[in-house]
Amino acid sequence: MDSSNRAPERAPRPGAPDPLETPIPRRRVLLFLGASVLATGAGLGAILEACGSVAPVAVTLQVNPATMPPGVPVEVPFSMTNSNGAVVQTSMWILKNADGSLTAYDPRCPHAMCAYKWVAAENMFKCNCHGGEFALDGTVLAGPPPRPLNKLPITDQGGVVTVEVPGDFVTPRASLSS
Ligand code: FES
Repeated sequence: MDSSNRAPERAPRPGAPDPLETPIPRRRVLLFLGASVLATGAGLGAILEACGSVAPVAVTLQVNPATMPPGVPVEVPFSMTNSNGAVVQTSMWILKNADGSLTAYDPRCPHAMCAYKWVAAENMFKCNCHGGEFALDGTVLAGPPPRPLNKLPITDQGGVVTVEVPGDFVTPRASLSS
């Protein structure tokens, strides 16, 4: 094709400033830097919050692992004072595994924080708020929960069972009746 058919390049208007040569006003640079610092600060705050910067609370449970049946979750009451100074009284599910180790489940459904129950007849945990169902190991079987049941660090030292509960723990929402 003949190059003479191409559209002619635009010539700059006489007297118009060249954008590559025009300096950016100092005030605009400072405004941009200030907004960037604020945005970064807010982002860091969100990240720290998401990382759980609140220290966990060690709670000793009134349970005797020696008398627990393996493979059947047991509901164990506990109380604690959370990082806001509120006294929380609720319960959590403790599972004695086949090898004798223990698993502690956060008693709040990972969907919308409702309390859930172990239903022995169906061999699963069930959350009546929205129909969430979980296997013995906490994996999701059905319903809207986006992830498995949360497990809490647990130790058994000669029968003294201690669980690390998140410092900002709050009571689960009441389960709807089935
Ligand atoms: S809160 Fe458990 S299924 Fe919605």
